[in-house]
Parts: sequence; structure tokens; C-alpha cells
Amino acid sequence: MPATVIVGLQWGDEGKGKTTDFLAEQVAVVVRYQGGDNAGHTVVVGDETVKLQLCPSGVLYPHITSVIGNGVVVNPATLIRELDMLMARGVDVSKVRVSRSAHVIMPYHVALDKGNETRLADAKVGTTGRGIGPTYGDRAWRLGLRMEDLVDEPTLRERITRSLVDKNLLLAAMGVDTFEVEPLVAQGLAWGERLRPHLDDSTWIVQDALRRGDHVLLEGAQGTLLDLDHGSYPFVTSSNPVAGGACTGGGIGPLQVDEVIGVMKAYSTRVGSGPFPTELFDEVGKGIAERGREFGTVTGRPRRVGWFDTVPLRYAVAVNSNSAIVLNKLDILSGIETIKVCVAYEIDGKRVDVWPSSGAALSRATPIYEDFPGWEEPIHNVRSLADLPENARRYVTALEEHAAVPIVFVSVGSERTQTIERAWRPMRHRSGLGA
Ligand code: IMP
Repeated sequence: MPATVIVGLQWGDEGKGKTTDFLAEQVAVVVRYQGGDNAGHTVVVGDETVKLQLCPSGVLYPHITSVIGNGVVVNPATLIRELDMLMARGVDVSKVRVSRSAHVIMPYHVALDKGNETRLADAKVGTTGRGIGPTYGDRAWRLGLRMEDLVDEPTLRERITRSLVDKNLLLAAMGVDTFEVEPLVAQGLAWGERLRPHLDDSTWIVQDALRRGDHVLLEGAQGTLLDLDHGSYPFVTSSNPVAGGACTGGGIGPLQVDEVIGVMKAYSTRVGSGPFPTELFDEVGKGIAERGREFGTVTGRPRRVGWFDTVPLRYAVAVNSNSAIVLNKLDILSGIETIKVCVAYEIDGKRVDVWPSSGAALSRATPIYEDFPGWEEPIHNVRSLADLPENARRYVTALEEHAAVPIVFVSVGSERTQTIERAWRPMRHRSGLGA
């Protein structure tokens, strides 16, 4: 199975980093295909916790080539800080490759993101304030800067000069500081000098690896419900976290993808604004947030917490064409007397089983729940499905039935070893549920 996509099935923060890390030993190349330093991947190895924002999680393995693909928006300052942090930990970063075509997040993108959120006031998206939207906006408007421009002074100057004309007008209208061309050119060139050894043609790294028969892992950031096309617009990010994004942002064709692993948590979380039908506002929700340490990796913001929702799960599995699912953080639900699972919505007095494409309809949805008896005992040390408490097993099976895709790993703790691994045959063209 030479090419595997890992994709979040919820609103991000599903624990994709742990999954990539778990599979990393078998792979030669790991690619980040979208998003930027709005993402935060936490990888726990032994008693070490490493937080990554741009480098793919596989960077901790010396045999892996870590690729930041063309679909990523790169804040060079963050990337340089991350490389420094990794080097200080003794990690060899020479195999970190950055697409020359990846777009650059400039300081004015960050200022525009923050200024726009202030302007939106109550209607704000709750972005991470990292300049993600304005950078993708410039890319679509063909006003963007690409990583390759950081090592080409005339082009850099020309592009910044052109871009700043309207950026400064907007910033001034927002009442925030404007930018001058030359300091930005100097900053861009300094970043370019530092990152020059990492710049590469990422598509050919991926294609050559596949031709050799090496295993390539394409790692999504955020999640399906934050997808620009498939999420609850406008409360979404500005890229395509869905599996299709791995093709455009990672330089791979749809028929080259062999496996699409969806990652989800045993409950739901969401950061930022937007509809969240199963959100909890009670002590049970607070307990899940505390035990699950549900605070944003990047912003430190508390995440909103809710029951598991199978309505968007069924949608996510469809648009990602998942061949397998990883279920994370099952241990966090231990000790809850009754666990609820949303099976459908009521919208305007009608039962709705499918994820509504209308954001307005979604914001009027109330959940219809099915109750599951919980389990008392901690499950951190369980390593096989058979050893899980019966009620936990029932819960996993119910989620699997809703997804109609086999759950191949169940995570019962943040450590690599705290994982229940199920019989896992090569997935392509397989039908039916796993053993
Ligand atoms: P942006 O990606 O910073 O523009 O933020 C847009 C929306 O996506 C906001 O609701 C953010 O909270 C959310 N978001 C962006 N990145 C992540 C992430 O890595 N995890 C969870 N939510 C995210």
C-alpha cells in the first residue's frame, strides 16, 4: 500500500499526529498537504512531548523524508523556529523538504486576519489569527508569494510592492498599522537564505518515492468539518483537509491513493465559532474537556466539547472514501454513566439523517440521541478489543456500524503503546467490517 492519506473526520484535533507517528516506521515519506501553522500536532514519544505546527509528524524518525507540500501555506518564521527546536532536541532536519510552490504567509496576512476578525465582531470565525485565510485568498487572487520567491530578490520585491498597494488600503481602513516594502523584502530574503537548503520540488519527491515502491503517507491538518467546501461555511478554514486535498496539495493523483484512514475521537470537539449541534455545556462536558486536555495546541483556547455525532461522520466517510478508521481517546469516556450518540437531527420539526449542506439549517439542528450505558473502569492498559468492558465494546461497534468502515485502531491513551490494534488487511477494494 504505497500511498496512504490520513484525514480528520471531525473539526480537527482528532489525534492525527499519533496515527501518523504510529505508522511512520513503515513509511519513507510523510507529506503535509494543506493548512499552515494554524495546526498543532502533538506527538508523545516516551516521556517526551513534541508539538509540531508545520513539519509532518514523521520528522522525528531519521529514515523519513518530511515534505511540506505545495498545498500548505508556510509562515517561514514558524518553520525556522520549529527547525531550531527540533535541532536542539537532536533531530536531523536535513530531510525536511519544502515545496517551492507553497505559498508564504507574510506579516500583512496575519494583520489582515486579525483585523478582519475584529471587524466581524460577533460574526467572527474564531480563526487562529495566523493569516491563513488572507494567504489562501492571495493565492486564489494570484497575488501570493511562493517559497521560491524568497530566493529571488527582484521577483520578491515586485510581488510585495504589487501586493502592498491594496493590502495597505485595507489595513488602514481597519485602523491597523500598514507595511513598507523594503523591511518586508529584507525579512523575506533572510528567511529565503535560511530555508534555501530545504526548498525542493515536492511533487517529484512523492512521485519518485511511489515509483520506487516506497510507502508515502499524506497527512491532513484540521478536519473534514472545517473543509472550505465541505464544512459548515463560513465557519471553516481556507483549505481542503479532505482526502481530495491530498491530491491537489501533495502532488498525487486520485488513483495513486491506496488507503484513506479517517481519524476521529470518541466524542466531538470544536475550536472557534460555528454550529455544533451536540455541544455540551454541563459538568459532563467539563469533565471530558479536563480529562481529554481539550485546549488548542496553537492558541491555548479551550475547545468546545460535545457528544459524538454520527450525522457528519457518515458525510465525512462519504466525501473522503475512507477505507479504515482510527478511534482515539476512548479512555476519556470511562466513568460516564450514560454516553449519548447523536444519530440524526431535528430541523424545523423534521427528522434529518444527512449532514445539511446549508449552514443556516445546521444552526437550527437539534440532536436526536441514542443512549449507551457507560463503563466505570479505566481502560488505559487494555490492548485488545476483547478485553474492553462490554459497554465500551458496544460503543465502538455502534460507531463502526454508523461509519460502515472498519475501525482498525482504538487509542486508549496518548502513548504510542496505548493502542488496540485490530486485524488489518490491506484495505483497497475490501468490503464489510473488520474482525
Ligand atoms: P483559520 O484556519 O485560522 O483561518 O481558522 C478557521 C477555523 O478553523 C477556526 O474555527 C479555527 O478555530 C479552526 N481551526 C484552524 N486550525 C485548526 C486546528 O488545527 N484544530 C482545530 N480547529 C482549527
